[in-house]
Amino acid sequence: MTTLAIDKTSRFAVELPEWAQVNEKRRGHIARVTALLVQWADVMHVRDDERVAWIDAGRFHDALKDASDAELRELVGEAPYEIQMLHGPAAAVRLERAGERRIGVLDAVRYHTIGYVDWDRTGRALYMADFLEPGRGFSKADRGFLAAQVPHDFDGVFRQVVRARLEWSLHEGFSLFPEAVELWNAVR
Ligand SMILES: [Fe+2]
Repeated sequence: MTTLAIDKTSRFAVELPEWAQVNEKRRGHIARVTALLVQWADVMHVRDDERVAWIDAGRFHDALKDASDAELRELVGEAPYEIQMLHGPAAAVRLERAGERRIGVLDAVRYHTIGYVDWDRTGRALYMADFLEPGRGFSKADRGFLAAQVPHDFDGVFRQVVRARLEWSLHEGFSLFPEAVELWNAVR
């Protein structure tokens, strides 16, 4: 089995879009997520166009994470999400305005904090990488183990990540969005 050597300090040169609004800490997270996606794509021998989609999903997904609430609201209108979930839909709108047409990339970015049953592998890979990247402080050993398993059991790890993220939402008393529940019912 291939072991993925990923450590917290690993940097990956990611180019952010010019409209990105991210602080230094966020830049590190985006770099680690994208690096993880690249490693999985390499081990899995993912086709070139899909590999590029994974990388772009990684570098775009949090590009508006540090934008103001007013800017996010302006981009997404009346979307029924809490403010901390708006950066995904807002980035997708911004990408579309910039000419992005790849549905897999747009849906990956749009739903990365929520979950989406109709994701292709790009959306699923981003959802896992966002949760499993090594810079997060919790459950490091378990998440590291899951990250190493992704190339060998992509669907199995995806299911575990959906479960973990829903459990965490319930534990914290957050809303469960219909998209997330529908996703769990489809993969369980
Ligand atoms: Fe993220």
